[in-house]
Amino acid sequence: MINFGDFYQRIANSNLTHWLNVLPTQLSTWQHELQHGKFKQWLRAVENLPKLQPTYVDLLHNVCAAMEPELSSGQLEKIENMLRALTPWRKGPFSLYGININAEWHSDWKWNRLIPHISSLARRTVLDVGCGCGYYLWRMVGAGAKLAVGLDPMQLFLYQFEAIRKLLGGEQRAHLLPIGIEQLPTLTAFDTVFSMGVLHHRRSPLDHLHQLKNQLVSEGELVLETLIVEGDTDQVLVPKNCYAKMRNVYFIPTISVLNSWLEKCGFININTVDICMTSIEEQRRTSWMTNESLAEFLDPTNHHKTIEGYPAPIRAIFIAKKP
Ligand SMILES: C[S@@+](CC[C@H](N)C(=O)[O-])C[C@H]1O[C@@H](n2cnc3c(N)ncnc32)[C@H](O)[C@@H]1O
Repeated sequence: MINFGDFYQRIANSNLTHWLNVLPTQLSTWQHELQHGKFKQWLRAVENLPKLQPTYVDLLHNVCAAMEPELSSGQLEKIENMLRALTPWRKGPFSLYGININAEWHSDWKWNRLIPHISSLARRTVLDVGCGCGYYLWRMVGAGAKLAVGLDPMQLFLYQFEAIRKLLGGEQRAHLLPIGIEQLPTLTAFDTVFSMGVLHHRRSPLDHLHQLKNQLVSEGELVLETLIVEGDTDQVLVPKNCYAKMRNVYFIPTISVLNSWLEKCGFININTVDICMTSIEEQRRTSWMTNESLAEFLDPTNHHKTIEGYPAPIRAIFIAKKP
């Protein structure tokens, strides 16, 4: 069983204490009724990992742990087998005792694009909505966050996160909860809220922006990353069926539309700090994610188009404040 007790204790005496009115019931329902068919296999992989106390950890420049004396090749092989039992690894990379989890995404590249522009995370309580396996939660801790909380309903990601936690020596400043944003009450408690790669998957983007704002303290910061289309007109691309082979992409706005959505939701000081076309070097098939990846989602004769003929993925990062 995944134990959320440490998290409850952490928030019991914080400005998140009111979350305890609903969270334990939600997570207990999840534990008893909503487990994925493969959860026993995933849980076994996490449980079979050794509890390690690294002598070196770096979460500031990457997610890396090492140990002196080094682990034996037999120990490393066992650890790698357990980690490979948790594939596909979409977000990374992780460098653990010489094992490199070369995930589908170079998530470190996105982090490097955003970190110069956001308010310092030092001593902040932060929320990462749609956090995947929690790669960025570790980077938030590395950047000084007091507490980094991630939400993601995809259960494999929780087991990947707990595996990494174990290999990082049981670090407790980051926590991943297997729930969706819609299950959050209005917490008004986070200094920074991240929503990266989520908005274009939401059927109701303005409601999503309101939900994010509801989690921020007054003067808190939103870091929003999403797909955009080029152009300064008030246009939104609504893909007919799939976008880059994804069935669940609903709205891809121009920067100008996204600015007005943020304004409509009451955000201020809105800035677009980065615009970047996703490359097949940043998102690609690896031995840790052997399914199709971006190269197969693009028109093979023209990488500026998706396989469906839409503009290829461009992602923008917006920073905004709650008044
Ligand atoms: C494209 S991934 C982005 C992952 C990561 N934030 C990043 O930027 O690399 C979108 C994530 O949102 C998660 N997600 C889907 N529905 C969600 C919901 N209702 N609440 C929170 N997260 C959700 C998915 O499981 C997935 O991990």
